[in-house]
Amino acid sequence: MSLIEIKNIKKTYGCGENEVKALRGINLNVDKGDFLAIMGPSGSGKSTLLNILGFLDKPTEGEYIFNGEKTDSLKDAKLAKYRNSHVGFVVQNFALIDDYTIFQNVKVPLDYAHVSSKEKKKRIEYLLKIMGIEDKKNKLPKELSGGQNQRAAIARALVNSPDIILADEPTGALDRKNSDEIMKVFKKLNDEGKTIIIITHDERVGSMCKKIVYIEDGMVKEIEK
Ligand SMILES: Nc1ncnc2c1ncn2[C@@H]1O[C@H](COP(=O)(O)OP(=O)(O)OP(=O)(O)O)[C@@H](O)[C@H]1O
Ligand SMILES: [Mg+2]
Repeated sequence: MSLIEIKNIKKTYGCGENEVKALRGINLNVDKGDFLAIMGPSGSGKSTLLNILGFLDKPTEGEYIFNGEKTDSLKDAKLAKYRNSHVGFVVQNFALIDDYTIFQNVKVPLDYAHVSSKEKKKRIEYLLKIMGIEDKKNKLPKELSGGQNQRAAIARALVNSPDIILADEPTGALDRKNSDEIMKVFKKLNDEGKTIIIITHDERVGSMCKKIVYIEDGMVKEIEK
């Protein structure tokens, strides 16, 4: 059984003359342990697809089966629960909170988790160490480099021990060296069994993944292994 099965997913924004057909019938299976790159031109629907996969948005049509369960009839509260317990999201440009320290930023997804503060602290410090930024825990995002902030954003996405990590251009703002560092982190997480899907414009980054799904005009054009 696939971890994710999506069947003929469509997404239309707006209506009338403002209507945009962002996804026009996407079929995709993602297995546990997959490491997938989504590539394609700007405006082709990549972020829309990732947001649907991460339960941040709902498709207009089609079926999304996660872990064998149909998700289209689930209420918003249940979707939020799915999102919080299964998905780690790394968004474009980090989206860290400016006046929170790195430690506080990484802690955000745990704010409502039923975990003791001691355990939270332990988890956060462990992840900051893995990401190589343990010495930055009391700094603000503006005091870190782009690559360090991206690592903090990944630590934040991992703090809930998600089954799946979704990242929208995690290396987009980084130079080659930092980009390679981030890809190494993803590779290691994938080797440990995490399922990872990243959007990228960078062929080099794409080629470091196990599969590339090319999206064009809201459809899957090709899957390369
Ligand atoms: N909230 C929204 N409301 C209306 N239209 C939207 C919305 N979000 C995206 N779109 C439109 O849907 C289409 C797909 O957008 P999407 O953001 O998924 O593209 P993308 O492939 O991620 O592009 P990029 O590489 O530039 O990030 C675009 O035409 C975009 O303008
Ligand atoms: Mg996008």
